[in-house]
Amino acid sequence: MERLVSQVGRRSAELFERAEKVVPGGVMSPARSFKSLQLKAPVFLERASGAWVWDADGKAYIDYLGAFGPHILGHGNERLLASLRRQLETGILFGTPHEGEVLLAEQLVEAVPCADQVRLVSSGTEAVMSVVRLARAATGRALVLKFDGHYHGHFDGALVAAGSGASQSGDGGSSGIPDPIRQRTLSVPFNDLAAVRQVVARRGSDLALILVEPICGNMGVVWPKDGFLQGLRELADEAGCLIAYDEVIVGFRGQFGPAYPLVGPAPDLIAFGKVLGGGLPLGAYGGHRDLMRLVTPLGPMFQAGTHAGNPLSVAAALTLLEILAEGGVYERLERGSKRLADGLLAAGRRHGWPVSLSRFGSTWTLFFSDQAPSNLIEAKAQDHALFTRFFTGMLARGVLLAPSFYESWFWTLAHGESEGERTLVAAEAVFSGG
Ligand SMILES: Cc1ncc(COP(=O)(O)O)c(C=O)c1O
Repeated sequence: MERLVSQVGRRSAELFERAEKVVPGGVMSPARSFKSLQLKAPVFLERASGAWVWDADGKAYIDYLGAFGPHILGHGNERLLASLRRQLETGILFGTPHEGEVLLAEQLVEAVPCADQVRLVSSGTEAVMSVVRLARAATGRALVLKFDGHYHGHFDGALVAAGSGASQSGDGGSSGIPDPIRQRTLSVPFNDLAAVRQVVARRGSDLALILVEPICGNMGVVWPKDGFLQGLRELADEAGCLIAYDEVIVGFRGQFGPAYPLVGPAPDLIAFGKVLGGGLPLGAYGGHRDLMRLVTPLGPMFQAGTHAGNPLSVAAALTLLEILAEGGVYERLERGSKRLADGLLAAGRRHGWPVSLSRFGSTWTLFFSDQAPSNLIEAKAQDHALFTRFFTGMLARGVLLAPSFYESWFWTLAHGESEGERTLVAAEAVFSGG
């Protein structure tokens, strides 16, 4: 117990000991574990407000974990809370359609040029899983091509060379997935059009879908090279298959709507999650009317959910979109995050650390390697020990980061100059070995 207490507070350590007895690994999702950092216990958070969170021992942290991405407004936004309170009092779940979901679907269709229609689901996993099934239904083919280090949720067909938590614990796969299912997903290096071309040449007539994070967020933030997404589009057309963008991390994060217009042509299908729900469970997928009409009850592709269009999640999303659509919001996010990200990189380099940085709007990754990676092999080649030193140093100084070098920092509308400056002071101290 004393070793645990020296890394996190006594109460977190005690809670973790209890959790380990009744929960596998003591955590409800593997990315929350601090195991890969050789820290035995994670911090248990108890309270959050604005840019700050407090652990079970009362210690305050500036929050850059951001619950792994949903909190673009920061914690406890008053307008969001008010809409949730209103919805709590009018009804939590109906099991029928309701006006809010129509409003949200209308707004999404307006904001997302490639989507004539959308379906609301409860998580990013569900959104991408539905996209894959729809692509198979539309093409009558089985094979899916994805990219090493991209994470699309935890359904069977996505767990091949997956990023995020799945990369940390091994090869990005999972036991329990029968070979015939695993073999229907191929994975090649991101930013490698020659590798995609080879798959199209060999298996093009089997390909249902090319599935890609247009800007990847699951091996850290990794941008597509110029022309890569355009090349994918052309190869998909050549193979007669569909292309889907998984925008669960990047959608509505750097601009209002999808991120893809910044980096590539329109996809056939698109998936959202994280930001859209403002911290409540919500995902969405959409596409061209001709594809969406295949979804039940209109067509033969079955997809359903007791919680789909959950009124609380929808209420949060409507308020969130209203706030994000207000002038200057993304400019504010960009200014604040750029200032801090630039400062972190400069401080690390000044102190001789091999660091690089890649950023998309209010999310970025500080890589512990000289050059920002363009694929998973490069992302893996970071100095793990340096990341662990940085993470634990920041944690001790009251700055909470995601506990993996495959994850990103999330800046929010609640973060301000003072949080940025305090973070830089902490980083200076860690980089200088103080
Ligand atoms: C790009 C991407 N797709 C899908 C998912 C799965 O979303 P969820 O965890 O909400 O199921 C994630 C989660 O991290 C993600 O980053």
